[in-house]
Amino acid sequence: MSKGKLSSQENFLHINQGFSTRSLHAGEHQPLPGQIPHTGAIFQSSTFIFSNAKEGADIFSGEKSGYAYTRLGNPTVKTLEAKLSALEAGELTKKHPDTEAFSIAFSTGMASVSSTLLALSDAQDTILLGTGSYGATEHFSRTVLSRFNVNVVEVDTFDLNQVENAIKKHPKAKVILFETPTNPMLAVTDIALLTKLVKGVNPDIKVIVDNTFATPYLQRPLELGADVVLHSTTKYLCGHGTVVGGIATTTSKEIYGKILAVVKDIGTTPSPFDAWLVNLGIKTLSLRMEKHCENALAVAKFLSTHAKVESVRYPGLETDPYYQLARRQMKKPGGIICFNIAGGLESGRRLMDHIEVFSLAVSLGCIDSLIQHPASMTHACMLKEKREKAGITDGLVRISVGIEDTNDLLNALNDALAKV
Ligand SMILES: Cc1ncc(COP(=O)(O)O)c(C=O)c1O
Repeated sequence: MSKGKLSSQENFLHINQGFSTRSLHAGEHQPLPGQIPHTGAIFQSSTFIFSNAKEGADIFSGEKSGYAYTRLGNPTVKTLEAKLSALEAGELTKKHPDTEAFSIAFSTGMASVSSTLLALSDAQDTILLGTGSYGATEHFSRTVLSRFNVNVVEVDTFDLNQVENAIKKHPKAKVILFETPTNPMLAVTDIALLTKLVKGVNPDIKVIVDNTFATPYLQRPLELGADVVLHSTTKYLCGHGTVVGGIATTTSKEIYGKILAVVKDIGTTPSPFDAWLVNLGIKTLSLRMEKHCENALAVAKFLSTHAKVESVRYPGLETDPYYQLARRQMKKPGGIICFNIAGGLESGRRLMDHIEVFSLAVSLGCIDSLIQHPASMTHACMLKEKREKAGITDGLVRISVGIEDTNDLLNALNDALAKV
């Protein structure tokens, strides 16, 4: 009996076969009576059956489209990739119908960062890296890329004078990678101006934006001239704290091919189940982001008038240095806030140990509110001197504002601050 042609009941139940064979084959590849599941199916399969040897050869050679092996492609993962292309580049392709978009999903956000940098840099190249990039991005560049003789130069991308100096000093830099807004200080970089500036000196430089904090609902770097957009899908895209994952999206077929070549060999493919969970999360992205932003603004306003809070950073506050730029570049200012509490580390610890509703945990972008202390948690690996230069003082607290009822968040903060 040939596999892949299981239409009769007998073949479906495999009743003429032994127990072990039945335990493997019975019920599998069930022919559905022309029905399509309402929610996309999870193709949790490492390999795919070819209907004959020629089809297998044709799929491997690229002559025929289809799936062969999940490290090289999977229908559930493909759904996620198509979704991100549509979200990051949908408006762009509407305006410029010739524009194509390509996405590659990864097992983690760091896999998307490391694979993209490995794909776009060679030995002896220089890459420019935005100050305040995620700790592991900075660590990977400094410790791994440097072993392959890639020169990594840090630049404050939110200060365009510094960008100009850096690109003039390194006019052959292959890549500039930055995050906006940054973590945890929420500094905003002008993506369109930066792109114009660096490409004016080196038209071949690739501008890569880590868009994890904003999501394509709030900010779309490809529309502003960037070449690649990266995400840790672990955060807002999944939204429910159930997955670690990443994705890269580009409008360049050449860049797509380079990243794909790395991914196939390094093997940073996500599991179909994880891709399915991110697909599910993305379905409510716009609603969640609206509520995250509404709550974050209320929390930022509350904190900025509280006697025990020394300063608040949130680009949605009119007093914030990035308010105008964020208004221009982003639909709304996002769901992350950081603030300095009077009394430093001790006060921060008391706040985090006594607060209700918020969970004391790292990560961000979950539906529920999270609170953490960057100096002793997410940014503990940085030298204290470097940390403080970046504004990450011992009294700094970061919150990822969830979608709870606004008043419950304000009451929880008010009660916890009273105990500080
Ligand atoms: C901005 C940003 N980029 C990348 C990453 C890495 O993502 P992951 O933890 O999914 O590997 C993170 C993680 O916090 C992040 O905040």
